[in-house]
Amino acid sequence: MNNRVYIFDTTLRDGEQSPGVSLNFEEKIQIARQLEKLGVDIIEAGFPVASPGDFDGVKRVADEIRGAQVAALARANQKDIDVAWEAIKNGENPRIHTFLATSDIHLKHKLKKTRDEVLEMAYNSVAHAAKYTGNIEFSAEDAGRSDLDFVCKVFGEVIRAGAKVLNFPDTVGYTVPWEFGEKIKYVMENTPGIENVIVSVHCHNDLGLATANVLSAIVNGARQVETTINGIGERAGNTAMEEVVMALKTRENSMSYMTNINTQQIIPTSRLVSALTGMSVQPNKAIVGVNAFLHESGIHQDGVLKERTTYEIIDPKDIGLFQTNIVLGKHSGRHALKARLEEMGYNLSEEDIERVQARFKSLCDKKKEVFPEDLEAIVAEEILRIPDTYSLKYLHVAGGSGIIPTATVVLEIEGKEERMASLGAGPIDAAYNAVSALTKNTSKLLKFNVSSITGGTDAMGEVMVRLEEDGIIVNGHGVDPDIINASVKAYLNALNRLAYKKKNN
Ligand code: KIV
Ligand code: ZN
Repeated sequence: MNNRVYIFDTTLRDGEQSPGVSLNFEEKIQIARQLEKLGVDIIEAGFPVASPGDFDGVKRVADEIRGAQVAALARANQKDIDVAWEAIKNGENPRIHTFLATSDIHLKHKLKKTRDEVLEMAYNSVAHAAKYTGNIEFSAEDAGRSDLDFVCKVFGEVIRAGAKVLNFPDTVGYTVPWEFGEKIKYVMENTPGIENVIVSVHCHNDLGLATANVLSAIVNGARQVETTINGIGERAGNTAMEEVVMALKTRENSMSYMTNINTQQIIPTSRLVSALTGMSVQPNKAIVGVNAFLHESGIHQDGVLKERTTYEIIDPKDIGLFQTNIVLGKHSGRHALKARLEEMGYNLSEEDIERVQARFKSLCDKKKEVFPEDLEAIVAEEILRIPDTYSLKYLHVAGGSGIIPTATVVLEIEGKEERMASLGAGPIDAAYNAVSALTKNTSKLLKFNVSSITGGTDAMGEVMVRLEEDGIIVNGHGVDPDIINASVKAYLNALNRLAYKKKNN
C-alpha cells in the first residue's frame, strides 16, 4: 500500500468553528496562501451555504489558490451542494465535501430519519455532486459512534454514486486509539469498492486523543487526515497538523509514511493563525507552544548545551523556529528588518515593509531589543488585519492611588473623529467605558486576558478579549508596550470584527 499521507487542512472551516473565531475573507486568503506554502494537499475553505460572507471567503480562496485543492463543505442536500459548487467551481481540481450522520443517536434525535432514508440521501447527494465534479468526499458524521456495518453499507453506496474520498470522523472525540485503528481496519476490509478510494479520518480532541487516534488510523490504512493548525476547532478542537506531521517525521523508524508538508513553515503558519483568529496557543502545546523548546532545569540546560539531542527530539530549525543571536534594535536598518521578516516567512511588498518599519522604529524608542515575536505581532496588526470601522486616534488615562481613574479617548469612526471622557474602576475600565459610549455597542465582555509577548518589563503586552453581542461571539487582539493601549486596541479589534460580521452575515 502507498505510504503517502494527504493532509486535508480544515483550519478555515472546522477551525473557524472555534468559539469567537470569525475570519473575514482577507484573513482567510492570508491563511490560505500560507497553507499553500506549508504544502497541505487540500484546503477546506468553508461552508458556503452558511452565509454570504462564508460564500465569498470560499470563492476567493478557490479563485486564487493553485498549489492545493480547495474543498467546500455541504450537507447532503441539493441546495448546499449547488451553493458549494458555485463557490469553488473556478478552483483547480475543486472538491465537494458532503456529509451526513450515520450514528443511531444522530439519526434518532437530530435527523429523525431511518437508516434506509439516510442511505438514500447519501447516495442521492453524492450522485448530485457527481454532476459537477469527480472530486467528491463523503463524510459519515459521528462514524466513531456508528454501527460499523451500517457505515460500510453507506460507504459502499456513495462509492457507487461517485465518491472518491471516504471520511470516517470521530465527531465527538469518543474513541480510543486501538479501537479507532480497529474500526478503520474493519471499514477497509468490509466496504465494497474501498480499494479504489482514499480513506480519510477527522478526529476531535475531546479526550485529548485526536493525534493518537489519527496515527492509529494511518497505520491501519487511512491515507488522508483532516487537521487544523494549532488544533483549533469545535469544542476541544481537531487533530493538530503539526503534531501528526512531526510525529510521522520524528518516528519514521516506527511509522514509515510521508507527507508533502514543508515543516519549516510550521511555526510561521502557527503564529499567523493564532494572530488572525485571536486564539492563543497554550504555552506547553506540543511542537508550537512557546515552552516547547525551553529548558528550565539546570540539568536539562547543561545537557542541551553539551548535546542538543539529550533533551530535544526535534531540531527547532526543522519546524522554522530560528533561535537567532542577532537581535534587532534601534540601530538596525531596513535591510536587516527585511531579512528578518523574510527569515520568518513574510515576503512583504515595499509599501508594507515601510509600514512595519514605522511601527518597528516607534517600538525601538520604547524597547531596547525587538524579538521575532514582537515583529510577528506588528505584522499581524499592521498588515493582516481587517479594515477598521473604528480606529484609535488618541488615548489619555489617569490612574493611581487616591485619584478617580479617568480616560479620554478619540476614535475615528467612518472617517469622522469623535471624543469622549469617562470614569471607571481603573484606567482600562475607564477607557473601555469611553470606547463603549463612542461606538454605542451593547456587547458583553466574556474574556479579558493580558500576557507579555517576551520577557522583561519593557516587553510588549498582548491582550486578548472576547465579546458577545446578539449571539455573535468575536475575539480581539492588541499588542503594545503599554498594556492600556494594548487593551484598547484589542477591544477595538473585537468591535471591528463585530461590525464586519454584522455587515457581512
Ligand atoms: O466533526 C465532524 O464530523 C465534521 C464533519 C463535517 C466532517 O466536522
Ligand atoms: Zn469536525
